[in-house]
Amino acid sequence: MIKLNDEIILNIEKLTPNGCALARFEEEKFVVFVDGALCGEEVKVKITKLNKKYAKGEILEIIKPSKHRIKPPCALYNACGSCDFQICDYDYSILQKTLILKDIFKDITDEEKIYDVIKSPEILHYRHKIQYPSRRTKNSKRMLLGYYKNNSHDLINIKYCPIQPEIINEIAQFIRDNFIFDCYCEKTSKGLLKNVVFRITKDNKNILLSFVLNCNIDEYQKLYKSDFILFTKNITEKFSEIKGVFVNLNPDKSNKILSEIDIKIQGEDYIIETLEDKKYKIGPSSFFQVNPKSAINLFNTVKNQIKENSTILDAYGGVGAIGIFISDRAKKITLVEENKNAIKMAKENFKLNNIKNYEIYEGDAKKHLIDFQKEKRMFDYVILDPPRKGCDYDALLAVLKIAKNIIYVSCNPQTLKRDMLHLKKEGFSAKFIQGVDLFPYTHHIEAVVLFEKI
Ligand SMILES: C[S@@+](CC[C@H](N)C(=O)[O-])C[C@H]1O[C@@H](n2cnc3c(N)ncnc32)[C@H](O)[C@@H]1O
Repeated sequence: MIKLNDEIILNIEKLTPNGCALARFEEEKFVVFVDGALCGEEVKVKITKLNKKYAKGEILEIIKPSKHRIKPPCALYNACGSCDFQICDYDYSILQKTLILKDIFKDITDEEKIYDVIKSPEILHYRHKIQYPSRRTKNSKRMLLGYYKNNSHDLINIKYCPIQPEIINEIAQFIRDNFIFDCYCEKTSKGLLKNVVFRITKDNKNILLSFVLNCNIDEYQKLYKSDFILFTKNITEKFSEIKGVFVNLNPDKSNKILSEIDIKIQGEDYIIETLEDKKYKIGPSSFFQVNPKSAINLFNTVKNQIKENSTILDAYGGVGAIGIFISDRAKKITLVEENKNAIKMAKENFKLNNIKNYEIYEGDAKKHLIDFQKEKRMFDYVILDPPRKGCDYDALLAVLKIAKNIIYVSCNPQTLKRDMLHLKKEGFSAKFIQGVDLFPYTHHIEAVVLFEKI
């Protein structure tokens, strides 16, 4: 039996949904998870964690490397850990994502219904929303902006990130060099700047910049406003791509990065993104897909399933991204969304795209879906695109009563599986599952599922 600190040799069997590799040790086939290994590799690991069900091993040596192993394109790969699939070539990572989906859904869906993941049009510089936590070093008070090291809250100062547009690296450096206030400290809950959030259109020409602050509106106006106005003037003079600068006031201790309180310091309220022939106003705190070019593939996967002249409910609709993209097929679109700022943008986006046959409901999707059920409403298609935690069970029960067809868009295959099981029990099964790669070089998988009544 394995013991802690043992050094053992393993053959990697597969990659798992959270990106780490799985091997089984000797005859007992005891499961050992290994970060940073690839299928078919022979690795020597040291056991660093052990419980009754599984162990974790840290690689000491890659004895037989995979032919798909590459040198990570990012110099900070070992320190940062956000892009865990940088160790293999892109085609291989796509194959692995398809295999991961097949593995997750094998007991509830036929394998041939799980299609190959669609590649991202870009694999570098694709990320168009960046959220950098900030910190100052203890002694020199140097400002750090970057990502946390894997499974930790150690902040890595990211001076160059190859998956984001180059201009963001330059603006981040300007902020490091010129920002005068202190940064937030999680341990003491003190300090001003929590995060810097960048949002940029896919042509890299229009940027919204937000400073997420640990203060309320009175404190902001009394203590910080005049300096932020000056800082904004300087940064927008240097970077003409920055079209709007905001502070987002978030004194809560929760993990939520952005509050709903955006205060504009200078410039535009929004930037405009274009996906095919549709235009979207995007505000500083509303959700929009981080990889817009790949989002076009995602949205077309949805659109291709929808028959002309349909009634469509876009639940968890955000700024209207999917509803508007598929609007040519709609008799009427009903959008439900809880974020006030996103609702405001959604209304403007329907107008911007000259869409008249729409209605918008603000608030919790569960409440509205249950109301629709009580009103005996029926939609040709209900599109569900919930956050990572998936759909509320009661919301799903209501969907079953109001949908002729269900299209589920998910960024978390695990909660998708849970929700699919609920739907299957009630008579809806998957016609197909289509993965779309929105997050190259990471293990994250976006998937679209079309359900049909059994
Ligand atoms: C994954 S995003 C999808 C947004 C949109 N479909 C898109 O592609 O841009 C999920 C959206 O659901 C919203 N949301 C989260 N929980 C919600 C709830 N309980 N009721 C309604 N909307 C919710 C979020 O504000 C966010 O806009």
